[in-house]
Amino acid sequence: MSHNPDAIAPHGGQLVNRIATSEQRAEFLSKADFLPRVELDDRAVSDLEMIAIGAFSPLTGFMNQEDYDRTVTEMRLANGLVWSIPITLSVNEEVASPLPEDGLIRLDNSRGEFIGVLQLTQKYHYDKTREARNVYRTDDVNHPGVQVLYNQGTVNLAGDIWLLQREPHPQFPTYQIDPAASRQMFKDKGWKTIVGFQTRNPIHRAHEYIQKCALETVDGLFLHPLVGATKEDDIAADVRMRCYEILLEHYYPLDRVALAINPAAMRYAGPREAIFHALVRKNYGCTHFIVGRDHAGVGDYYGTYDAQYIFEEFAPTELGIVPMKFEHAFYCTRTKQMATSKTSPSRPEERIHLSGTKVREMLRRGELPPPEFSRPEVAAELARAMRIEVPV
Ligand code: ADX
Repeated sequence: MSHNPDAIAPHGGQLVNRIATSEQRAEFLSKADFLPRVELDDRAVSDLEMIAIGAFSPLTGFMNQEDYDRTVTEMRLANGLVWSIPITLSVNEEVASPLPEDGLIRLDNSRGEFIGVLQLTQKYHYDKTREARNVYRTDDVNHPGVQVLYNQGTVNLAGDIWLLQREPHPQFPTYQIDPAASRQMFKDKGWKTIVGFQTRNPIHRAHEYIQKCALETVDGLFLHPLVGATKEDDIAADVRMRCYEILLEHYYPLDRVALAINPAAMRYAGPREAIFHALVRKNYGCTHFIVGRDHAGVGDYYGTYDAQYIFEEFAPTELGIVPMKFEHAFYCTRTKQMATSKTSPSRPEERIHLSGTKVREMLRRGELPPPEFSRPEVAAELARAMRIEVPV
């Protein structure tokens, strides 16, 4: 055993690395024109990337039927490890049928660029309604995750993958810190306990409050905003990242915080995605993970704390990473600070809480969110960005 072990082992014990070596890359490139091609959508591209960099350890490729079925029905891989979200490459019948089962497939992005290889081992049909009901707890097509599922192909292609090359992120190269690097960074900083934070929204004071409450009890905070595909009306990733930069500069202890991007796509699967988000952050080296109100939820498909209750379905040792659960936080006008009902004696009318949707509506009307909800520097940045994004 090394003298300075990682704070936590990756899920399944080993950090997966499926980035082609230079020899493999040369070999794949020499075959590029002869291999059957499959074009990936944005979500599949980010899944490919997440598998390759080890963020989805222990997955080494797109799921076969055994892993898929057990994930959908029991939240486990075929070998029994906890896993809550199917990671599949779904294509149309016409794309799937000519592909040789047991051969190499060239994977292209939507611009026709060769980005990866699949060692195809299995093609299988799957039941979309069952996946929707089990994973999203609804088969309502208005749910953004269900909508993606219902629009995708009917055949899953399974097998190990290689990413041809790890390219710097086009928008946020300095924040691209892959799991091997974040683990090293935590060691270099001497952090033994690290809390991960998932977000897809511009940072507001309730986020800041729960992050700082968590940070009071651990060594470091890993701010890990998701920058992969989100639904259309979510705020663009570059705006959200600027809000983070501004907030960190003014309001955070920089030696205790690290900001990095999570290149995954958002599923909006609420409770199941909370488990998934936690396992991914475990792979990045986090020992703890924040789960607040309606984590990864959308609309009113999930109960406010369903994403917290689901952690009780697993033994703590099966997950490894420890959830840090927070109640709905608000600004309390009586005690003049951020709080939750656990710490504030306030009546409902003494609580200021706004939703992301309400804030977006305010910005569109040209109003700034109040300082009780949003730090002024962040509100100003949002207002600036929204005016550009939403022509009047
Ligand atoms: S999410 O889809 O990524 O979960 P969001 O960016 O809004 O959405 O939330 C990031 C994290 O902060 C989640 O763990 C969520 O539960 C938590 N959170 C957001 N707002 C609040 C709030 N007002 N009180 C407590 N937790 C919150």
